[in-house]
Amino acid sequence: MRIFVTGAGGQIGSDLIMALRERGHDVHGSDLAPRPSRLPEDVPWHRLDVTDAVAVAGLLEQLRPQRVYHLAAILSARGEQIPQTTYAVNQTGTYNVLEACRLHGIPQLIFTSTIAVFGPGLPESVPDDVPLRPTTMYGVTKVAGELLGEYYQRRFGLDFRGVRFPGLISASLPGGGTSDYALFMYTDGVRVGAYEAFCRADTRIPLMYMPDGIRALMDLADAPKADLRRCIYNIAAFSPTASEIAASVATAIPGVRITFASDPARQAILDSWPRALDDRNAQQDWGWKPTFDLAAMTADLVPRVRELLARTPDALSGH
Ligand SMILES: NC(=O)c1ccc[n+]([C@@H]2O[C@H](COP(=O)([O-])OP(=O)(O)OC[C@H]3O[C@@H](n4cnc5c(N)ncnc54)[C@H](O)[C@@H]3O)[C@@H](O)[C@H]2O)c1
Repeated sequence: MRIFVTGAGGQIGSDLIMALRERGHDVHGSDLAPRPSRLPEDVPWHRLDVTDAVAVAGLLEQLRPQRVYHLAAILSARGEQIPQTTYAVNQTGTYNVLEACRLHGIPQLIFTSTIAVFGPGLPESVPDDVPLRPTTMYGVTKVAGELLGEYYQRRFGLDFRGVRFPGLISASLPGGGTSDYALFMYTDGVRVGAYEAFCRADTRIPLMYMPDGIRALMDLADAPKADLRRCIYNIAAFSPTASEIAASVATAIPGVRITFASDPARQAILDSWPRALDDRNAQQDWGWKPTFDLAAMTADLVPRVRELLARTPDALSGH
């Protein structure tokens, strides 16, 4: 099937494109940025700004994909530095993609929501349907994206589906999320043997290893529509404290020095998020199940980070 991906140059996009191609799909990537060097040159690539409604509609009319993965967004930490741009990209951009799907009869849109839709004061393990009171522009625009997509499904019959991702971890430079401290423990741990995390040691948020996240995006999209009782699903893997992640990193990088110096702005965002997610609906409706826990992720990730840094020493620096 032909699949179109927005924001495909980011942390999730490249891995998703490679996994979709392995399943035999004809995948077109798009982004503000050029095709990342880690993607093969035969991946069709389009320069697209999702805030440009005419350009979004024009490209979807030309390509007529059967499925769109809408990834383009400004993430939580960066979003607090540039809230106006974040509104334009996340809110107007999502509206533009929904409208283009409606105008050109694109049947299915997959949305990547986040634990940042939740605000403070929720139970220890948060189910799908709770009051959504986010404190960041990123969270506000993602709540709006969820609701807009549900409206387009009800009103125009668009097959709109999405997951609320925990913080995702992979051997690539993340795009300015507030969960990035977890990855930096691994990357700086390998690179320089030390990392000072921008959170308290007792900070606990839900996390997930990228291969599980990619599989979730493909399995949810492929699930029979009749099995789905809702559009947006919580998905969970593991919820370690920052000090538990540091201890896990130390099992694979002996002697690594991980310290904690909490940054007030990013700590406030972390403290507003759930400590764990209840993902029973995803398990029941489309068989969601993670394969990696923290120890398995550490065992898989550290050799990948080592290999990447041996090839490209600067690949994971610059945060
Ligand atoms: N990485 C995570 O931990 C995580 C967690 C929850 C949800 N998500 C969601 O998954 C999606 C992808 O996240 P990611 O980690 O790959 O983010 P990322 O920041 O690495 O990538 C986002 C991409 O969007 C692009 N972009 C920004 N403005 C754009 C515009 N105006 N038009 C087109 N493209 C634009 C950027 O160039 C970037 O390549 C996002 O919607 C994000 O909210 C990610």
